[in-house]
Amino acid sequence: MNTENLTNNNLPLTNISVIGAGTMGNGIAHVFAQNGFKVTLIDVNAPQLEKALATINKNFDRQVTKGSITEDQKKSAIDNITTSSDVADGVKNAGLVIEAATENIDLKLKIFKQLDEVAPVGCILATNTSSISITKIAAATKRPGLVIGMHFMNPVPVMKLVEIINGYATKKEVTDTIVALSRQLGKIPCAVNDYPGFIANRILMPMINEAIYSLYEGVAGVEEIDTVMKLGMAHPMGPLQLADFIGLDVCHSILKVLHDGFGNPKYAPCPLLVNMVTAGKLGAKSGEGFYIYTPGNKDLVVSERFK
Ligand SMILES: NC(=O)c1ccc[n+]([C@@H]2O[C@H](COP(=O)([O-])OP(=O)(O)OC[C@H]3O[C@@H](n4cnc5c(N)ncnc54)[C@H](O)[C@@H]3O)[C@@H](O)[C@H]2O)c1
Repeated sequence: MNTENLTNNNLPLTNISVIGAGTMGNGIAHVFAQNGFKVTLIDVNAPQLEKALATINKNFDRQVTKGSITEDQKKSAIDNITTSSDVADGVKNAGLVIEAATENIDLKLKIFKQLDEVAPVGCILATNTSSISITKIAAATKRPGLVIGMHFMNPVPVMKLVEIINGYATKKEVTDTIVALSRQLGKIPCAVNDYPGFIANRILMPMINEAIYSLYEGVAGVEEIDTVMKLGMAHPMGPLQLADFIGLDVCHSILKVLHDGFGNPKYAPCPLLVNMVTAGKLGAKSGEGFYIYTPGNKDLVVSERFK
């Protein structure tokens, strides 16, 4: 059977399935639901679905309080979302599946192999991966022309960019469809090609790594490095604080993808970053990275290690 043809006439792009109900999956479900799409949010971990719905509800409440949507709009958005812990059932009516499961290559290859078997013929399969090759993910399916990267930024309801990544085999009409769809969500799409780190992380991660090297070599302290980049370059937060928010383990693994993919030593993770990850200092999620994170305290406090 030819599963490569886009059959959008039969598969309304109004039905979207999102795989993974974590940080990104709940944000992606939120923006599609708010824009009138029917969304099925899928996670193998059923309690995670409850948590995701509670987060989505809280985030819609915040929009109502700010006056950016009405209570009625919130209600109809929430009504657009159903949940499932069964992938085959959850994607059976989808015109587009967006995978936002844990960043692990073996897991993603397994999910895409399964999606290829259970998603309708002609259904587009997108991934929100930050760093895994789209071409490699597509090669796990028999429809590589219909596989594409749709890289939303965190927090999804707030951030405007969608980095759209063409795999080696992605068809032009699939890219055009995803670009148009992203605009329907009120986002700004940017289409790029599939090389390690795409554009966002290829440029961001070396900057973060260089900031960590500057600290490691004693060029300046944590606050000085972040202040120079905030006030001098008009960045909303400094690179060390940003690294803490992204997760130092995530930064480390993306740098390894760049280093392995290009074979260029300029991408080698700074030894200080490697040490911090090994010591379990992963940034905000572990309570300590370059800064200390204490629940209820929003002040930026530099870690004792760097004072
Ligand atoms: N967090 C970010 O800032 C960010 C930004 C851009 C892109 N991404 C990418 O988005 C993806 C998701 O990241 P996240 O931060 O939301 O992760 P997360 O850990 O918050 O959530 C991942 C979810 O996937 C679920 N999951 C795991 N295996 C599954 C399976 N087989 N089927 C269905 N669900 C499954 C887990 O139960 C979990 O709820 C990753 O590829 C990541 O690289 C993350």
